[in-house]
Amino acid sequence: SIKAVIFDLDGVLTDTAEYHFQAWSALAHKLGVPFDRQDNEQLKGVDRMGSLQFILDKGGLQLPSDEKDMLAKAKNTHYQQLIENISDADLFEGVHPLFNRLKQAGIAIGLASASKNAAMVLNKLGISAAFDYVADAAAIRQGKPHPEIFLTVAKALGIPAQHCVGVEDSLAGLQSILDAGMYAVGIGEKQLLTDANLVYAQIGQLDLDEVLMLGRKAPT
Ligand code: BG6
Ligand code: MG
Repeated sequence: SIKAVIFDLDGVLTDTAEYHFQAWSALAHKLGVPFDRQDNEQLKGVDRMGSLQFILDKGGLQLPSDEKDMLAKAKNTHYQQLIENISDADLFEGVHPLFNRLKQAGIAIGLASASKNAAMVLNKLGISAAFDYVADAAAIRQGKPHPEIFLTVAKALGIPAQHCVGVEDSLAGLQSILDAGMYAVGIGEKQLLTDANLVYAQIGQLDLDEVLMLGRKAPT
């Protein structure tokens, strides 16, 4: 049975995935590297330096590490400007009712975001207190698609992976969940998120009864 639901943040609980996209596309544009929403699907869930490397590789650019650090920092400054004014109004519809139902059912709530800005975003959204455990992205050595982050959250919650559901909008994140041995719920387009056990267009459409039914058969 399902004893924990571990959420991604950007693109699952709020639309910050769009701000990451805007900041990366501005940077790519400055570097003269073509970058569109299709490229961005590969970047979702991928950590900051990994994302920068993807863009540099796409442009065939090789830069020394101090220049890479500067570019990553510039992207982050831009991203933080874009999210400066987000508030509880930016939380996707349906998140509060879903969290309430999970709490009533005694199911733990975790966060597995690759973002070093996650704690700040949770604060702005006013939902920090809802989580039983929030992963520290800075302490994760192997980013998504590696399963480390989801496994770290499950361990901190004290719940074996086979009793956990992960909720993700990214391809890298779904891989991370499945390789962790958890059930995977995708948020987004069914045609894109083909590896997920269930897919909903938005978090507000997540059918918790259907998700909890997953726990009645072994994860694939
Ligand atoms: C993930 C996003 O949640 O966090 C990525 O999907 C982002 O787009 C990554 O690059 C790292 O975020 P940050 O805030 O640490 O640069
Ligand atoms: Mg995401």
